Amino acid sequence: MQNFDMEKHWSEELISSAEMLSNLSKIDSVACAFNTNIDAIVQIEGGDFEKVLHEKNISLAFLTEKASRKVKTFEDIFCGIFKCFTQGIAEEWTCSENDPCDEVLKIFPPKNYQMGGQAGIMANLLSLYDIKKVFAHTNSLPSLQSKQFLPLDNILGFDENGTALPIYKINREKDSPLVHIIFEFKQGDSFSLENKKFVCPKSNRFIISCDKLNQKMILDKNFIKYMGQNPQNLFFLSGFHLLNHTDAKEILPNIKNWILALKKGVQKNCIFHLEIASTPDDKTREMIFKQIGNVVDSIGVNERETIDAMAVLFPEKEVSTNIFDMIEALFLLQKETGAPRIQLHMAGIYITLQKKDFVFSPKQTKKGMLLAAKIACSRAVLGDLKKHSDLTHSQNGQISENGKNYMQDLAKYFNSDEFLKTGILEKEDFYLVAVPTPLEKKPKSLVGMGDTISSTSLIGSSIL
Ligand code: GLC
Repeated sequence: MQNFDMEKHWSEELISSAEMLSNLSKIDSVACAFNTNIDAIVQIEGGDFEKVLHEKNISLAFLTEKASRKVKTFEDIFCGIFKCFTQGIAEEWTCSENDPCDEVLKIFPPKNYQMGGQAGIMANLLSLYDIKKVFAHTNSLPSLQSKQFLPLDNILGFDENGTALPIYKINREKDSPLVHIIFEFKQGDSFSLENKKFVCPKSNRFIISCDKLNQKMILDKNFIKYMGQNPQNLFFLSGFHLLNHTDAKEILPNIKNWILALKKGVQKNCIFHLEIASTPDDKTREMIFKQIGNVVDSIGVNERETIDAMAVLFPEKEVSTNIFDMIEALFLLQKETGAPRIQLHMAGIYITLQKKDFVFSPKQTKKGMLLAAKIACSRAVLGDLKKHSDLTHSQNGQISENGKNYMQDLAKYFNSDEFLKTGILEKEDFYLVAVPTPLEKKPKSLVGMGDTISSTSLIGSSIL
């Protein structure tokens, strides 16, 4: 396309997307389930890590030999930090019975506590959009946990008597806090061990979850009862990733049947979205797609989660993060689950594949994705979003080189110049919608980024 300025075109689209924010208050009610927890954020610097490794006499052989993602001893966490730091990847490991959480927090004091879990993060964010009611599922709600919710009256939870109240005011005194420790590390940081230097290739995080209730997906009966009686506009589901496969086998079919019953009944017009998270257990991961993925209307993944899903669902395929592998994977995952919409978010581009008869038009989908890109930039700069004005804090309207290159590659591949401008392609029964996004060079934190993008994209598409 001659004389077409892709940078100018998409940054204008991006800037104008913020105008949609004021419409979001028209949405009546949304639900976020199931995982809400407390995130203890630890910024781990290479130098500090190196010091502790020496103090504890940890060898390189020990750090590299561990294969499972289970934390059984305090020393196991070093293996996780080492793996994620040196490879620049994100992983979440679960703790077994005697969790070393307190000891870990003594040696690595957290910078702060904040709302965690896909459901918790989404609930806080969506409440800032002034949606009338945002329900968050909580299986534990002592005051340390309820304090992580924003002090806004539109985020609702249930007290022990089943009364819906602003969640930040609830203190279920008998409950105990569910803490996940998040080690964040930065690209370019380094440490040395046994005369070898290790440099972190990409800012990322390593999580350990000391959280028995979410690991067993214990549900709050008051939330379940309410959702069986009160229609929602959108329902965001996540938190299956902490299950081991024995529990998953038992629990997932029950949740699947619950969703199907809701969809036949009071939630017949509600859109159900499944947000995928890093899932250590292969069999659980497979079951999440096969059981829950095939009853929801929408699925959200990042590139790592896509590769992990492909490894269990299509083991014969070699998948890397290149854009063509990602597109092929989206088509295959859609086919496998039958979900009418699947969205991928990766650094520089978001891509949604949706059935032609999906309830939102491709233009609506595009608008939602642009709004998501705008809000995600603010989240990257601030680390967390706490008030309405934070949403539009970032003025970064510059589309990333990554994003522009991906768009060019896709336009060539699908042989469509128009795509560079519209971001929309028709392919058989589907629309493929893509938007190139800005990238923050120095993000304060990346926790909750995927949750922000997925929930905002869908919410933003629903109000046009
Ligand atoms: C996972 C973690 C949770 C974290 C979230 C961020 O659900 O368990 O601690 O807040 O990911 O997306």
